[in-house]
Amino acid sequence: MRESLFSRQPEFEIVPMVSDHCRSVAELHGQRFPRAWGDGEFLSLLLQPNTFGFAAWQTNTLIFKAPLAGFVLSREVAGEAEILTIAVAENYGRYGLGWRLMQAGMREARNRGGEAMFLEVDDGNTAALGLYRKLGFEKAGERPAYYTDENGRRSSALVMRRDLR
Ligand SMILES: CC(C)(COP(=O)(O)OP(=O)(O)OC[C@H]1O[C@@H](n2cnc3c(N)ncnc32)[C@H](O)[C@@H]1OP(=O)(O)O)[C@@H](O)C(=O)NCCC(=O)NCCS
Repeated sequence: MRESLFSRQPEFEIVPMVSDHCRSVAELHGQRFPRAWGDGEFLSLLLQPNTFGFAAWQTNTLIFKAPLAGFVLSREVAGEAEILTIAVAENYGRYGLGWRLMQAGMREARNRGGEAMFLEVDDGNTAALGLYRKLGFEKAGERPAYYTDENGRRSSALVMRRDLR
């Protein structure tokens, strides 16, 4: 049977994040996080020499100017790298894009001399925890009652770590 262009798995192109991407990145961030970061915040982070990111778009789509599918923003300083933020658009969830963006971030961190990568995650964020555990991140610490959601419910932040070497 011939595969339909509308039903087949999305394919993605992942490119280094540049200033022109910041508006789309901020928009997607606002869709996936309760506290949105502005495009100016992304721009000032991206302009720092230790910060780098990747952005992804679907390639096998008929949509002219397809919206941003996902991004990751990271930093590497003196051998220690961290994920500042990562998001995949809801309609592209579970296609392996988060995993690929993390791989791109870890590879670049390693190239810049990173020995280990750290990140912080809400202990109730099942999807992110699943992704990080699949990539070999392990709990390195915990900040109890660190986040408060819109209903006032508190949850802990887990600090996770993975060797890059
Ligand atoms: C977390 C996030 C980036 C994952 O992106 P994704 O592209 O859907 O992830 P992948 O398809 O690469 O999934 C990789 C693994 O993560 C886990 N995972 C992803 N989504 C999951 C879900 N909804 N429930 C449980 N596990 C999930 C699974 O282990 C999955 O592997 P599998 O599909 O082989 O089982 C995405 O859900 C997201 O943007 N969430 C909102 C923003 C956010 O929470 N960012 C992280 C903040 S710390």
